[in-house]
Amino acid sequence: MWVSLLRQLLALMVPCYVANAFPVVTARIIRYRHPLDFGRKFIDGRRVLGDGKSIEGFIAGVLLGSLAGLSMSLFGIGSLTESIVLSIGTMLGDALGSFVKRRLGLERGSPAPFLDQLAFLLTAILLYWFFIGTINLAAVVILIIITPPIHLVSNFFAYKLGLKDKPW
Ligand code: CTP
Ligand code: MG
Repeated sequence: MWVSLLRQLLALMVPCYVANAFPVVTARIIRYRHPLDFGRKFIDGRRVLGDGKSIEGFIAGVLLGSLAGLSMSLFGIGSLTESIVLSIGTMLGDALGSFVKRRLGLERGSPAPFLDQLAFLLTAILLYWFFIGTINLAAVVILIIITPPIHLVSNFFAYKLGLKDKPW
């Protein structure tokens, strides 16, 4: 029972975390990135998403998250299809988080507690639930609890390593 819970936890967690982490890496590799909102403004006069969300970052997240899922599927954990859905969900949720931040008047890169840490995960889980089907509730609850602290700690290390400009 514990082993099965752990497998389901990993199948959900790894694609989401990998997809969420890799856009920051592309930001260090690709200097000229294309904004996901094409530089456009919303009706409130602010950017739709802002320069923190790029097409290159989105694609890198989906590709690497799916690749991580494919690697795990070789060990009998999750599947490629599941990880593609989770990776796309993660990147959509990440962009949705920025959309909400901009509507609240928060600048790109500003901290938004819970939104920054959970929007990607909840959107990925919702998409998984919609396209894949049944989802282990215990695994979801555990993920919602452990993700904010893991996100904060890993972002702090990414900042210390010079990958990110902000420690959150
Ligand atoms: N990034 C990217 N493309 C994405 C997501 C992220 O290029 N789709 C890169 C950007 O360089 C971004 C960095 O990863 O600055 C960190 O991501 P995140 O913290 O999500 O963005 P913020 O800059 O904080 O912007 P926002 O306030 O909109 O969340
Ligand atoms: Mg941020």
